[in-house]
Amino acid sequence: MDVIATIQEMQERSDKLRAAGRTIALVPTMGFLHEGHLELMRAGKQHADELIISIFVNPTQFGPGEDVDRYPRDTKGDLQKARSVGVDVVFMPSAEEMYPDRFQTRVQVEDLPHHLCGLSRPGHFDGVATVVAKLFNITRPHLAVFGQKDYQQLAVISRMVMDLNMDIRILGVPTVREPDGLAMSSRNSYLSPEERRSALGLKKSIDLANELLRTGERRAKTITDAVRSLILSHPFTDIDYVALCDPVTLETLDALEEETLLALAVRVGKTRLIDNCLLRKASDQ
Ligand code: PAF
Repeated sequence: MDVIATIQEMQERSDKLRAAGRTIALVPTMGFLHEGHLELMRAGKQHADELIISIFVNPTQFGPGEDVDRYPRDTKGDLQKARSVGVDVVFMPSAEEMYPDRFQTRVQVEDLPHHLCGLSRPGHFDGVATVVAKLFNITRPHLAVFGQKDYQQLAVISRMVMDLNMDIRILGVPTVREPDGLAMSSRNSYLSPEERRSALGLKKSIDLANELLRTGERRAKTITDAVRSLILSHPFTDIDYVALCDPVTLETLDALEEETLLALAVRVGKTRLIDNCLLRKASDQ
C-alpha cells in the first residue's frame, strides 16, 4: 500500500493505472476510520481493480462554530485498517496542498443543501462538493463510494456528478451499525457512556417509524411527533431535525409516499449525530 501526499504524484499514478486499463474506485474519508468506512472500501474493491482512499480533514466543510482541530485523528490506526482491507493507495494531502494561497473556487449545488443538515450548517455542502470534485480530479476514479448514512451528502454528490457530467459512477452503501443499532460514526468517540446509551434513541425511533408505517399510519406529523417523543425520552438529547421528506428532492412531505426518507439529526450532549432510513410502504416490504 502506497501513501501519496502530493496532487501531482497522485494524478500521475492514476493516469498510469488508467493507461494500463485498470479501473479505479475511490473512497473519500476524513480518517479516524471505523467499520463503516471499511465496508465502503470492501465495496470499492469489489467493483474495481484498484482501490484508492483519501484521508483529508477538509477545513472548508466546517462552519464557524465547528472546530476542525477537534476532529478525531489516528493516522497510524487508519493506515493499518486501510492495509487490512487491501487498499492500494492512500492519498493523504496537507491542507496547503489542497487549498494553496489564492484558492477561490467552489462548487455549489443549489437546492439540495437548503434542507436537513444544510439548514444548520450553511456552506457545509459547498465545502463537501468542492473537495469531492477536487478529489475526483486528483484521483480520477471510475467509481466513488459513499455511505447512505450521510444521505444528504450522497444526494448532493450524485447531483453534482450528474449536473457536471462527471464520468464517475457513485455507489451508496447501506449504513453499518454497532450490534446495539447505533450507526457507526467517527463522532461516536465523543460520547460518554451515558450519552452513548441515549444515542440508541435514534435507531429505536427509526424502528418505531417503521412499525407505525406497518400498522397503516401515513400522516407525517403523527410519525414525526412519535419519533421526537421517543428520542427526547432519552436524557441529554436535543433535536436538530426530524424530517420525513422526498428521497430525491429532500422536500418535506405531509403524507408518506411509496418511498419516504426519515432523516434525523440529534445532539446528544455536545455531539451531533445523524441517522436516516428509507421508509417503504407496507406493500413494498
Ligand atoms: O463524509 C466525509 O467523510 C466527508 O464529508 C468527505 C466526503 C470525505 C468529504 O470531505
